[in-house]
Amino acid sequence: MSETATPFRRPDFLKVVADAEELSRAAVEEIARCARESIAARARFTLVLSGGNTPRAIYSRLAAEKKDSLAWGKTFIFFGDERHVAPDHPDSNYRMAKESLLSKVPIPPENVHRIQAELDAEEAARKYEQELSLFFGLQPGALPRFDLVLLGMGDDGHTASLFPGTRGLAELSHTVIANDGPKLNTQRITLTYPVLNNAAEIMVMVSGAGKAEILAQVLRSGDSTQFPVLGVHPKPGRLLWLADEGAARLL
Ligand code: 6PG
Repeated sequence: MSETATPFRRPDFLKVVADAEELSRAAVEEIARCARESIAARARFTLVLSGGNTPRAIYSRLAAEKKDSLAWGKTFIFFGDERHVAPDHPDSNYRMAKESLLSKVPIPPENVHRIQAELDAEEAARKYEQELSLFFGLQPGALPRFDLVLLGMGDDGHTASLFPGTRGLAELSHTVIANDGPKLNTQRITLTYPVLNNAAEIMVMVSGAGKAEILAQVLRSGDSTQFPVLGVHPKPGRLLWLADEGAARLL
């Protein structure tokens, strides 16, 4: 390293915990705290769920530990993105959330706002954008403000379904779009940066030694075009990255 290079310092928004078990425990406590504070302040808690594999253990723990203590009747569930598949497809984020959480807690079905990814992707995006606008009672052009958005980070530094090199990174007018997926000729439906960055709180969860290389690259890089997860910085909201030691071992 040249003498002028400044040594890497872990960012203030990063919290590292011992292992995956500790990460799911800490994530559940953050969600429960945000729920309590949101419901105390606004009589409701709007929570955006992330997809993928990491959240499954977190959602299972949330159901097991907070089934009776979290105010599920005042909790409203949304999705940060969805694969372009039916809700019962093995790849569906909704299916994963339903199996691990939504079928295990007393949340009224009408409180769960699923992306209708069985439709044409563009139509599903338009419908979800309208559903958000209706739920939040928005004037045209106004943005939803979610109380808490959960996100993951993929092996290429994507988050939600904002993949490197896709048009979704430049989307500034729509809150929900159909975006190119990770593979050729695949599509996703995803929230966009404007609505993500309007959230009161965002928690990015990164777990496992398999993410160590990419996490180190991402946090040393600072380049949100190359690594879309870096484009998530809620203003004036709170950003927390929760990682376990396995994922943080190269930092
Ligand atoms: C998805 C997620 C995606 C995910 C990352 C990390 O639909 O897959 O929205 O953005 O959070 O790919 O996934 P893992 O947590 O499974 O590594």
